[in-house]
Amino acid sequence: MLIAGNWKMHTTSAEAFTLASRICESVHSDGASEVVVCPPFVSMRAAADAVAGSRILLGAQTMFWETQGAFTGEVSAGMLLEFGCRFCIVGHSERRGRFGKSDLPANLLAYFSETDAVVARKFSAALGAGLIPILCVGETEKERAEHRTEQVIQTQLNAALCAGTDARFVIAYEPVWAIGTGDVCEPDEADRVCAFIRTAAKKAGTSEQFQVVYGGSVNAENARALLERESVEGVLVGGASLEPDEFSKIIAIGDEIAK
Ligand code: PGA
Repeated sequence: MLIAGNWKMHTTSAEAFTLASRICESVHSDGASEVVVCPPFVSMRAAADAVAGSRILLGAQTMFWETQGAFTGEVSAGMLLEFGCRFCIVGHSERRGRFGKSDLPANLLAYFSETDAVVARKFSAALGAGLIPILCVGETEKERAEHRTEQVIQTQLNAALCAGTDARFVIAYEPVWAIGTGDVCEPDEADRVCAFIRTAAKKAGTSEQFQVVYGGSVNAENARALLERESVEGVLVGGASLEPDEFSKIIAIGDEIAK
């Protein structure tokens, strides 16, 4: 059971230290689930100091696939490992430029426009460096309405998993329409799509060492119903992971179900 918090572009260093410290204080030190927080790069040091010696692990929100070089603004896996990072989110829909519900034009929203090919490079670079990538996949509202959910996810998976791997990774089913909207996916449907992802990833010939988690408007109220489903092996939490009490409750639910 993996409970991961994606802090996105929130928390200065001082705020990250406080938030991570409060999460550490309010979770059981020996819970059964694996807990990860993903702060912004510049707050990583502060978060690392706060979680040192606790069960909380660190992850990054993205990375670049080269080890070093003239790539202005980018951060390599090696730089993340130096902070003790164990995980790295790759292919989040906000980086792919796939925004669920917005009135803004697509060209303005496609800030980073990461393609499947870019995500695939990041995925294999993370694995190669010894990080555990959390690969985000999921359909937009329009794609769901057109009954293309499986097709879209299959394409995203095929691109990233093409190289095959024996190392551990995580796939997060993050329907774009559910992210930051409060419109959480129905647990039965999340379970169905997570099961589809598991089968598809196995067919791609990857290692058995992977988990499929759900992300999108998860909070302390809806986490149990999601985590109790057989194919949902964890959650990737955005907004609710910035509230220490809320996130700690989700961790406690994860611990209970993982027992
Ligand atoms: P949310 O974000 O929980 O705020 O919907 C989830 C995510 O983007 O990973």
